[in-house]
Amino acid sequence: MVGNSVKLLNCNSLDEISHLLPKEKRVIVIIDSNVKAIYGKYFPFPHIEVNASEKEKSLFVVADIARKLMDLEADRDTFLLAVGGGITTDIAAFTASIYFRGVDFALVPTTLLSQVDAAIGGKNGVNLDGYKNVLGVIRQPSFTLICPQFLKTLPQSDIKGGLAEMLKTLILKDREGYCKAASLLKRGYTLEELSPYISRAAAIKAQIVESDQFENGDRKLLNLGHTFAHAIEKEIGTSHGEAVAIGIILASRLSVKLGILAHQEAVTIEEDFIKIGLETKSPIKPEHLFSSMKRDKKRSGDSISFILIERIGKCTIHPVQIARLEEALYDLS
Ligand code: GLY
Repeated sequence: MVGNSVKLLNCNSLDEISHLLPKEKRVIVIIDSNVKAIYGKYFPFPHIEVNASEKEKSLFVVADIARKLMDLEADRDTFLLAVGGGITTDIAAFTASIYFRGVDFALVPTTLLSQVDAAIGGKNGVNLDGYKNVLGVIRQPSFTLICPQFLKTLPQSDIKGGLAEMLKTLILKDREGYCKAASLLKRGYTLEELSPYISRAAAIKAQIVESDQFENGDRKLLNLGHTFAHAIEKEIGTSHGEAVAIGIILASRLSVKLGILAHQEAVTIEEDFIKIGLETKSPIKPEHLFSSMKRDKKRSGDSISFILIERIGKCTIHPVQIARLEEALYDLS
């Protein structure tokens, strides 16, 4: 049933998944083809495959999936299950939101980034002419099922991208969780040891979204580091996760510069990120960063809203004057 609640199901074994899926409805699975090759057998239902890439995240693919659903005689009571990374869950959730004016659906994210971020929150959509997420809706899935066992086969570079988003969410709301997660990541870890922090970050995001589904307040906090990250991604096409790690470091330095965060806290975050192996240095010059950020959609008149860190575990939204930002940026990178 569609509603405002953001429901997460955690599961530790792939064999458990089938027990958690709806029994009373006909299920059709929309699955990333790479994921299907390894994990398809855990989803014993008809499959529609998608090739996940930003280029494929388009209305053409949505129409293609809808056609296949019609071929399979999917009706309004059919339950769609999306299995894959953030692109797949976005495409499938959007299709489910408009097929016969909306059918029930659930998401099974298989990357770290999608388990802690992309598959939680209900924003789903597709790109148009190279512009990201221009067409979309906010519609919550019946549940998002998080099973860290999928990460066993995920490349290390993808894990790192997800770690940046995971740590970001802990920095927003959970000082103890952040400190414990950072010390685990610095010393080396197993998936079993990482699992509680994945669940914790996912639960924090779910809680924030539930309290502010349409982003009028607290949900904006989830953009910590993202104004910098989007500028970096746009300028040089860095991966989102890598750009977010750098964005968090720049946001923490800006927070110190504006007298909001103690210098030592920013040093702690930066040293942690370096030891964890996350990127911390901006690959673009301050003047390029500035000219890109000036055009950010969070600009309003003479200022841009930034999420700044007061302390690890507490962040707030601050408008920063453009002139002040330009001056500060030269000291940040
Ligand atoms: N789909 C991600 C979000 O709603 O934030």
